[in-house]
Amino acid sequence: MLLVPPLSPALADAVAASYRTVRWPETDHETFLAEHAADIVAIVCTNSGAVPARLIDALPRLGIVANHGVGYDNVDLDTALPRGVLVTHTPDVLDDAVAETALALLLAVRRQVVAADRFVREGRWPQGPFPLTDQVAGSTVGILGMGRIGGAVATRLEAFGASVRYHNRRQVPGSRLPYAESPAALAAEVDSLIVVVPGGSSTEGLVDAEVLDALGPDGVLINIARGSVVDQDALIEALEGGRIRGAGLDVFRDEPHVPTTLTEREDVVLLPHVASGTHATRAAMERLTLDNLHAWMRGEPLLTPIPELRDRT
Ligand code: DGY
Repeated sequence: MLLVPPLSPALADAVAASYRTVRWPETDHETFLAEHAADIVAIVCTNSGAVPARLIDALPRLGIVANHGVGYDNVDLDTALPRGVLVTHTPDVLDDAVAETALALLLAVRRQVVAADRFVREGRWPQGPFPLTDQVAGSTVGILGMGRIGGAVATRLEAFGASVRYHNRRQVPGSRLPYAESPAALAAEVDSLIVVVPGGSSTEGLVDAEVLDALGPDGVLINIARGSVVDQDALIEALEGGRIRGAGLDVFRDEPHVPTTLTEREDVVLLPHVASGTHATRAAMERLTLDNLHAWMRGEPLLTPIPELRDRT
């Protein structure tokens, strides 16, 4: 098995406990491939470890990519799928953790939690009170992407007293939530917009200047999806121009690098891609990654193949 970093020590050790493993090196890929390519039948990776076409092409016996993460835009599907390489991911088990992060970011931006914390720590309180903020209760929140995570976000927003609307590639049958025909139409109807769509070429730049302008000067953008979904330059320009109120971001265009044009701003809350990063959720994701791998090795049906494969496995 080929372990593609970054991978948690727990997952790497668990795979190594059952199978012979080699680790993808940082450099000298040619020498590594000359030595190991013919033996590698499986790749284990996380959603931040790239599995590009040239790696898939270099492994003649590759049968599966077991991805630790619900998103799998790190895997070149155009190369893997036509070759019959199976791909699994870890849906469902992270819905609660990711939805909590969406709410944490929305509350942090709307109630200025991080700025207020800095205000206390920097000793500014004795000089006067912290400015008033906006509450989530009574506001309207749009969810862009109404899959399982979007649904978990909606449940929590309603518990906070917000009205929820959504846009999705297709309207969700039976949903009682109001549907907007496009991302811009949704943005125009809401106070805050939460981005939950999968990454990849079909959603690249989906949240652009038009959507941000539709959100408007009191609007807040939350992104827990992928950095690629939001046009980061357009977002920075909208923040700098006061065309939106603020943003809460767990994901960025060029992770782990975040431009100073964002880090220097008070109206943003920035997280290091930790939406699923709880002990319980990461353990469940590791278990599911392993169980998919074991199932494939035994010739059994995969537990959670990616949607593109579901009818075929
Ligand atoms: C994933 O698993 O793809 C998400 O990035 C979780 O944060």
